[in-house]
Amino acid sequence: MGQPLGWGRRYLMVRPDHFRIDYVINPYMSTQDQPDPELALKQWDSLRQAIVDAGGEVEVLAQRDDSPDMVYAMNLGFATAQGKAMLSHMRFEPRRKESLTAAEWFMGHDFELKRTGADGIGPHFESGDAFVFGDSLVVGYGPRTEAGALKHLATEWGIRVRGLRIQHEGMYHLDLPFCPVDSTHAMVYPPALDAAGQAELFGIVPDPIVLTDEEAFAFSGNSLVVNETIIMPACSPRLRDIMTGLGLRVVVLDLSEFHKGGGSARCMTNPLDFDLSAIAVPGGEVVLPS
Ligand code: ARG
Repeated sequence: MGQPLGWGRRYLMVRPDHFRIDYVINPYMSTQDQPDPELALKQWDSLRQAIVDAGGEVEVLAQRDDSPDMVYAMNLGFATAQGKAMLSHMRFEPRRKESLTAAEWFMGHDFELKRTGADGIGPHFESGDAFVFGDSLVVGYGPRTEAGALKHLATEWGIRVRGLRIQHEGMYHLDLPFCPVDSTHAMVYPPALDAAGQAELFGIVPDPIVLTDEEAFAFSGNSLVVNETIIMPACSPRLRDIMTGLGLRVVVLDLSEFHKGGGSARCMTNPLDFDLSAIAVPGGEVVLPS
């Protein structure tokens, strides 16, 4: 029986005031298929409200007009309840200006800010790839985050980091095929990872909820748990039974406009309260499946 996650009650979100598809950096994006601004704002607000209704807290940051992907706030930086933050160093240049505003926000909110690199120098790190789960910080690498960032995270904070290599063009961040639900359960989509990563994943997650192709590509893995509520962009009857069986209240939201940029509920919400205390190890340690 799992215990509630120790994080996921406080989030940073970016209001979609300049949300557009100006460039294509993942298979979901097409400049021919633009989000409807009014509908996007309505959907964004339904997510903000659902988090508040579940007893969570939401901080709101205004969107830069030169950063159309900034609405996917999960990638701004990895932040802890103890006031540490690792700023993202985005793989793709068009997203790098987001970090300027994110850095200001983290420092203005008393986070001790670190970075793995900047302006393309140093390893890329995108925080949509990183979750505390079990005895480690689980980090997806390959499409966005680079393996070199793992060492950086481990030594900077003296924590255990477990890397999973992502090998799927539609699953470019770990928050698409991996979603912690409680201390032992997580939704997982193994085909996103290489063979060693898949084996490692089943070692990390005691009670995996394996997503079907259809569930994974409906963004079901891009959900978030806030207290006893799970907020999902899509939920099959099968998943609903599983979540209800775990004692969770299921809230399903239509986030169609955000799917046009290749992100959903989780991508739109950056947790600010990860806890590193249970994953501390002197000097830090990186575990890569062989
Ligand atoms: N268009 C964005 C990108 O490709 C989508 C980011 C989705 N966010 C996430 N945390 N998976 O960078």
